Amino acid sequence: MIMTRTFIMYSHGTTDDFNIDHLYESGRIDVICRCVLGALWVSEAMRKDTQIIVILNSGKRPPVSIKFDGNKMIGIEPSERSIALVIKKSLNTVKDKEWTNVQTGISVSRKSFQDLIKEAKNIFILSVKGSQTTSLKVENPTFVLGDNKGIPKNEESFALRKGERISLGSRTYLASSIVSTVHWLLDQ
Ligand SMILES: C[S@@+](CC[C@H](N)C(=O)[O-])C[C@H]1O[C@@H](n2cnc3c(N)ncnc32)[C@H](O)[C@@H]1O
Repeated sequence: MIMTRTFIMYSHGTTDDFNIDHLYESGRIDVICRCVLGALWVSEAMRKDTQIIVILNSGKRPPVSIKFDGNKMIGIEPSERSIALVIKKSLNTVKDKEWTNVQTGISVSRKSFQDLIKEAKNIFILSVKGSQTTSLKVENPTFVLGDNKGIPKNEESFALRKGERISLGSRTYLASSIVSTVHWLLDQ
């Protein structure tokens, strides 16, 4: 059986068209890009066992969910700019709650955070308030994390109906550092 790792990231990224040179001002699209890079790349190679779904929750028409599948993605450089360009393309492609292909390995939908949680299994919500965890042994886990502003309380409560909250320490780390730490724990 192929083991997979899934990340679901709640973000305050904009669903409006944004300036590629102003990722910070666009609801921290820069944070999203760094999480996608950390989730899907090791040095010079892609993690075929991992996908990350990012939900953009600000702008005129939220939510928009973008799924990046490391098993299928090709032809994308591991740079913030190239991920941001794919996000822009996804915003121009999104139709409804069905997944629509953006390009190989990347699809977009109007599914909400709660829609994605309903569909997910083996959920772990990453939070400083969770129970301290130093090793992870679970089949096909789904990790839920927030951006620089974190996950809104009502959304986290919804996820907690299906998942448990785990902490990787008492300090609050950058979201992208948390993604890398989860991979490191699972790689042991
Ligand atoms: C920069 S933090 C968000 C900070 C935000 N002020 C908050 O209170 O949630 C980004 C995300 O990383 C994850 N995170 C940060 N530190 C963590 C830790 N020590 N253990 C587990 N997850 C953590 C959480 O999912 C968080 O939403």
